[in-house]
Amino acid sequence: MANYKVGIIGCGNIARAHAHVYKKIANVEIITAAELEPDRRKQFAQDFELSTAYEDYAEMLTKENLDIVSVCTWPRTHCDATCKAASSGVKGIMCEKPMAVNLREADQMIEICAENDVRLAIGHQHRFDAQLVKARDLINEKAIGELVLLWGHCSLDLMNNGSHVVDMINFLNNDEKADWVMGQIDRRHKRKGRGNHPDMYVEDMAVGRICYKNGVRATVELGEFALQAWQFHIIGADGRNSLEIIMAIRSRSLINLPVRVKENPL
Ligand SMILES: NC(=O)c1ccc[n+]([C@@H]2O[C@H](COP(=O)([O-])OP(=O)(O)OC[C@H]3O[C@@H](n4cnc5c(N)ncnc54)[C@H](O)[C@@H]3O)[C@@H](O)[C@H]2O)c1
Repeated sequence: MANYKVGIIGCGNIARAHAHVYKKIANVEIITAAELEPDRRKQFAQDFELSTAYEDYAEMLTKENLDIVSVCTWPRTHCDATCKAASSGVKGIMCEKPMAVNLREADQMIEICAENDVRLAIGHQHRFDAQLVKARDLINEKAIGELVLLWGHCSLDLMNNGSHVVDMINFLNNDEKADWVMGQIDRRHKRKGRGNHPDMYVEDMAVGRICYKNGVRATVELGEFALQAWQFHIIGADGRNSLEIIMAIRSRSLINLPVRVKENPL
C-alpha cells in the first residue's frame, strides 16, 4: 500500500484536529509542518514527532517531497499556500474554510489545482453531520413536499461559521448551482477579526439571498443581529400544507440532534 507523506501549514487549533486524524490513517504519515510562531512550531513538531519543521511554508514545499498538504493558516494565506502546494507536486490539498477571501483567489486555487491534477478539498466537514444528511434525505424523499425555502442563521461572521452555513445550505439543495445571489453586510463597528482570522475586520451582520437554478430560494443571516442559534429552517409545500424541518447544529455535539418535521397547524 502506498505511503502518503503529509505536511501541515499553520500549527494552531485546527491543525491539531487534522494531525490527530492523519495519525489514525494507516498509510499516511505526517512528516513536517510550517508555522511562523517558534514556540508553537516546536511544540507541534514535538507532539506529532515530526522530523522537520519550518518557519516558511514555501521552503517546506520546496525541500520536502509531499503527497498531501493541509492548509491550516488564517484565511488570507489560504490562496497562496494552496497555489504553492499545488505547484510543488503534491497529490491532494485539504485547505481550511473559508476557502479564500475573495472570488478571484478561489478561482485561482481551482485553476492551479486543475492544471496540476491536484485534488482540492475545503474544510466544510459539517455537510457530513448526521442530522444534515438526515434532513437532506427527508427533502429528497419529499417528506415536506417540494422544497421552497432554506433559511440558515448563526451568531458568528462570514469568515467563521458563516461559510459553513452557506455550504450546508448548498448541500441541502443537492449542490444545485445558483442562478443569482444578492447580499448586504453591515460593518459599523469595524471589529478586528476573531481568533482564527485575527488579521481581518469582520461584519456586524450579513444577510444574503440565493435563488438556485431549480427555483429553491435560500436566506442566510449571520452576525450580531441575526437569530443567534446555529439553525436551519427548511420549508416545503405539498400542494395543501406548508411543512417545515427545523434543525439545530451544535459544533461539539453533532450526532443525534433531532430533525423535526412540523406540519402547518392551520
Ligand atoms: N473546519 C472547521 O470547522 C474549522 C474550525 C476551526 C478553524 N477553522 C479554520 O482554520 C483556520 C485556522 O484557524 P485556527 O483556529 O486553527 O487558528 P489558529 O490561530 O489557532 O492557528 C492558525 C496558525 O497559523 C499560523 N500562521 C498564520 N500565518 C502563517 C504563515 N504565513 N505561515 C505559517 N503559519 C502561519 C499562526 O501563527 C497560527 O499558529 C481558519 O481559516 C479557520 O476558519 C476551521
